[in-house]
Amino acid sequence: MRLGTHRVNARGHLEIGGCDALELAEQFGTPLYVLDEETLRDRCQAYRAAFERLKPDTQIVYAAKAALNRAICQIVAEEGLGLDVASGGELYTALQAGFPRERIYLHGVYKTDAELEMALRAGVGAIVIDNFEEIERLRALAGLKPSLLPGSHSIPVMLRIAPEVDADTHPLIRTGQRDSKFGFHLQNGDAYRATERVLREARFRLLGFHCHIGSQISDLAAFAAAAQAMVEFASAVRQRYGYLAPLLNLGGGLAVRYMPDEQLPSVEMYAEVVVNALRAACQQKGYPEPALGVEPGRSLIAEAGVTLYRVGAVKHIPHEHSNLPREYLIVDGGISDNPRPQMYGAQYTAVHVSRAAEPHTRPYRLVGKHCETDPIIDCALLPETHAGDVLAVLTTGAYAYSMSSQYNRYPRPAMVAVRGGVARLIVRRETYEDIVRMDC
Ligand code: LLP
Repeated sequence: MRLGTHRVNARGHLEIGGCDALELAEQFGTPLYVLDEETLRDRCQAYRAAFERLKPDTQIVYAAKAALNRAICQIVAEEGLGLDVASGGELYTALQAGFPRERIYLHGVYKTDAELEMALRAGVGAIVIDNFEEIERLRALAGLKPSLLPGSHSIPVMLRIAPEVDADTHPLIRTGQRDSKFGFHLQNGDAYRATERVLREARFRLLGFHCHIGSQISDLAAFAAAAQAMVEFASAVRQRYGYLAPLLNLGGGLAVRYMPDEQLPSVEMYAEVVVNALRAACQQKGYPEPALGVEPGRSLIAEAGVTLYRVGAVKHIPHEHSNLPREYLIVDGGISDNPRPQMYGAQYTAVHVSRAAEPHTRPYRLVGKHCETDPIIDCALLPETHAGDVLAVLTTGAYAYSMSSQYNRYPRPAMVAVRGGVARLIVRRETYEDIVRMDC
C-alpha cells in the first residue's frame, strides 16, 4: 500500500520522509511512532484546496484528539488550520505550543469549570456548548469573574446539535444519531430551548451551530444528510427567534484507507458533497448561506503515521478449527500503543522494514506483548519473518498515540517526525521514572 513519502530505498528498506525505517528503529528504539511530516502537511493543504475552490469561507479545524503534541500543533498552525480541543490537556498543549488562540474551539460533553475558565482566560475562538448545565455554569463563571470576559464582553459560543443522522460506522464511534449522549437533541426540543436560552443571554455571542455524526464514515450521503438537517434546524430557529447563523460546523468523520483493497472517497469528493448539500438545503429553505466549518482528525493525520515494532518471538501453533494464520509474531508493542484493534476490531496493514521490496504473501498473526490477547493484525501478509526483524504497521497516525496507555506499566513509545531525510524527536520515550513519577 503506497502512502505519502513511503518508498523502498536502494537497500530494499522501507523509507519514510527520506529516512531509512530500519535506521530509525535502531537510532530511536522500538516501538516507535513515526510521523511523516510531509504527508501531514500535504493533507492539510489538500483539505484547504478542496474547500477553497468550492467555498472559500470554509474553516478547516484539526480535531486534536486524533493525535496531539506541541510539534503537531505547530505544523497544523503553520498550515493555517484551526484546532478543535476536547479537554483541558489538549487546550494546554495548544497554548504551550503557541497555537493562535482565536483559531481554537473548545469541545467536550462535560467541560469542568476549570476547563471553561482556562478557555475563557486563553480567549479561545469559541466554546462549543453541549448541554444545559454547561450553559448555566458558563454564565455563572462569567458573572463571578467578569475579568474573564473578552473585550467585547460576550463569550463566543456555538451549540452542539445532535442532527439525528445514523452514519454507517462502528457503533462506538457513531455520535450523531438520536440515541447519543452528545449535544442538544432536535426531537425532544432541547436544541431549540438551548438556542433560545443562549440568545437571551447578553454574555453569549452565538457564532452558529455544530454537529459531528461520527468517525471513519465512507458513505458521503451521511454528511449530506447532516448538512441538510443542520440547515433545516437553522431555518426553523430563524423562524422562531429571528436568528441567522453565520457558521455551521459539520464536524469531522471522513474515513481513511487502512487496507489496500478499500475504496474510499477522496477529500475532494467529500468537499463537493458537503458544500453542495449545504448549498442546496440553503436554497431550498431560502436561508442565507452561512460559512462552513469542518473538523477532520483521522483523515488529516492517519496516513502520516507509522508504528515500528521489533519481532521478539515466532511461534507455530497448529489449530484445526481456525483458518487464521498459524504463525504468530510477537512484537514489542500492542494494546498500550494502539488499542484500536481490540476496541473496534480495527484492521491494519504491515510492511517488513528490511525486506520491503520482497513479495508480502505469507500470512502471520501479529500480536502484542501484553498480558492478554492483544491482536494487532489478525492476518498480516509479509515475507518470511524472524525474531529481531522490524515491522512497520501503517496508517497509525490517528487515535493510536492519543489513546495509548501505560498498561502493564510499559513506558509509552517515542515519536519522531521525519522530513527530507531528517528525523526529529518530537516526543521522547517514557522511562521507568516516568512510570512511577505520579506515585505518592
Ligand atoms: N469533531 C468532533 C467533535 C469529534 O468528536 C471528532 C472525533 C472529530 C471532530 C474528528 O473525527 P475524525 O475526522 O477523526 O473522524 N477513537 C476512535 C475515534 C473517535 C472519534 C471521536 N471524535 C477511533 O480510534 O476510531
